[in-house]
Amino acid sequence: MPDTTDPKLLVCSASFACYLVYKYFEPNNLSAHVVLLLGVPALLVGRLSPQLSFLQQAGAVIFYWSLILVFTATYRLSPFHPLAKYPGPTLGKLSRIYVAYFNGRGDLHRVIRDWHDRYGDVVRIGPNELSFCRADALQPIYVAKSMQKGPYYDTRTGLENITTLDGVRDFSVHGARRKPWVKAMGISALKGYEPILQTKILELVEVLSKRQKETIDISHWMNLFGFDLIGHVAFGHEFGMLKAGEDDDGLMRRVEDGVYATAVLSQTPWILPFIRRLPPAVKAIRDMRHMGATLAQGRTKNGSASKDLFYFLTEDETAAESGATLDEIIADGILALVAGSDTTATVLSHLCYFMLRHPECAERLHKEIDATFPPGEDPLDFSRHADMPYLNACINETLRLLPAVLGGLQRIVKRGSSGATIGPHVVPEGTQVSVHTFSLHRDPREFAPLPDVFWPDRWLAQDTYVLPSGAAVDKAHVTTNRAAFVPFSVGPQNCAGRALAMIEMRAVVCAVMHKFELRRAEEYDLDRWERDVMDAYISLRGKLPVILEQRQGR
Ligand code: HEM
Repeated sequence: MPDTTDPKLLVCSASFACYLVYKYFEPNNLSAHVVLLLGVPALLVGRLSPQLSFLQQAGAVIFYWSLILVFTATYRLSPFHPLAKYPGPTLGKLSRIYVAYFNGRGDLHRVIRDWHDRYGDVVRIGPNELSFCRADALQPIYVAKSMQKGPYYDTRTGLENITTLDGVRDFSVHGARRKPWVKAMGISALKGYEPILQTKILELVEVLSKRQKETIDISHWMNLFGFDLIGHVAFGHEFGMLKAGEDDDGLMRRVEDGVYATAVLSQTPWILPFIRRLPPAVKAIRDMRHMGATLAQGRTKNGSASKDLFYFLTEDETAAESGATLDEIIADGILALVAGSDTTATVLSHLCYFMLRHPECAERLHKEIDATFPPGEDPLDFSRHADMPYLNACINETLRLLPAVLGGLQRIVKRGSSGATIGPHVVPEGTQVSVHTFSLHRDPREFAPLPDVFWPDRWLAQDTYVLPSGAAVDKAHVTTNRAAFVPFSVGPQNCAGRALAMIEMRAVVCAVMHKFELRRAEEYDLDRWERDVMDAYISLRGKLPVILEQRQGR
């Protein structure tokens, strides 16, 4: 019979039991952590205090915690783990902190791509997580509606259990909640946004005209434009950033800081119950809510000249069907500000970078814009942008090489299912899975030749293609798999603002390039741009100093 008063045996058994609770129930609330990590050792110490000195009691507690880590690590690296057969970095298999570290550094997209190059199509990037670089993984993971969003999205729920649209797991709740969005981004609503798009784009061209021949950070101006536009589209609100030339209220900074912190925290959601109680986190969340509430109150008081997103979320007939509370509507308004401003500004900035890098592409784009809109014609005739092949090829190529959301979007194989078939793999229940967009978009099986090179021609149907080197290639040797092109994701939880984003990006590129030539500022090394891009779920980026010159006759 084992001696049940033996302190070592007691601590080992308690620690093993605690490890089992974590393994099987994955508790993710503060009280459970407190009970398991503080309550149980406190009981142990109470029980052992007659036998052990104070120092020995402290040692027992440390031993208890260490053993939990040892059990966890041993199991995760053992051949008994359900994901043992999948290759991946050892530290990644041990803890998600490894991925969080690269996320914090900003280069997670490049790191995961390197892992796919080294380990293959499927990589175990976390203890319980697989990253796929296969086009045939998109359907089962995102389209089939059998996998809900994973714990990565726990950060989408704020302090008072208010969850934004992108954090809603249940497909039927999500479907209802998304209805007003679908209408707000439908053809007739988009027509309604055209006047504001026109006004804001003209304002952008005007403020840029005033700064010709100066070195300006075009990426900054795209951001100011993005916020001003979405302020109107979402809340009928004028932020006035373009006019001011600045982000006077620090809104952009707050959003970027929030995006970055959320991205890193999302990797280790078990930490959320602790973080949510820290004063700076509480303040940041409350500040954002306060801003949303102020915008919503302003919008309710002043009304709006046209049907904006707030109208669709609150007044349209689909609003009642959505089942969203006022707090959720406000949170979704903020989501629109974050999801709809930085993303398009990022893609527009990337496109400017590619134009500077490839002047021959800029020249072809200028030619197409000039042919479509000869002098005297309005480059903001939205009805013609979708039919400009080279413009759309340049936008697609930008979204392929540097999508605004670079990483994989986590889903989870349903618990209680017998696993899921993803491509040729049968993945166990409870596994977190994603397709890594950055890697897939540069996969030579899907985009060839030159998968890492900006080559818009690949998007144009031709019998013979001319490579940037001047060499001719027959179409049989060119692969452009549109089904593997997913910058807006796919399936029922794909980007709700895709149509608006495309209209906006086409129009801005047309208007800016119709008017200006872009030149790299001499002191700027273009190699910096891609190095500075950070994967923070939404990409963050550095400065792009350029000089604009008005084109002749414009
Ligand atoms: C180039 C611009 C954009 C890109 C590349 C982009 C990309 C994406 C992606 C990849 C997702 C899926 C995220 C996930 O599953 O975690 C998403 C979701 C979303 N996007 Fe966009 N987006 C863009 C612009 C916009 C705009 C302009 C808006 C709105 C004004 C918007 C609103 C949303 C919303 C609300 C969701 C959540 C949808 C849901 O969960 O049902 N996005 N976006």
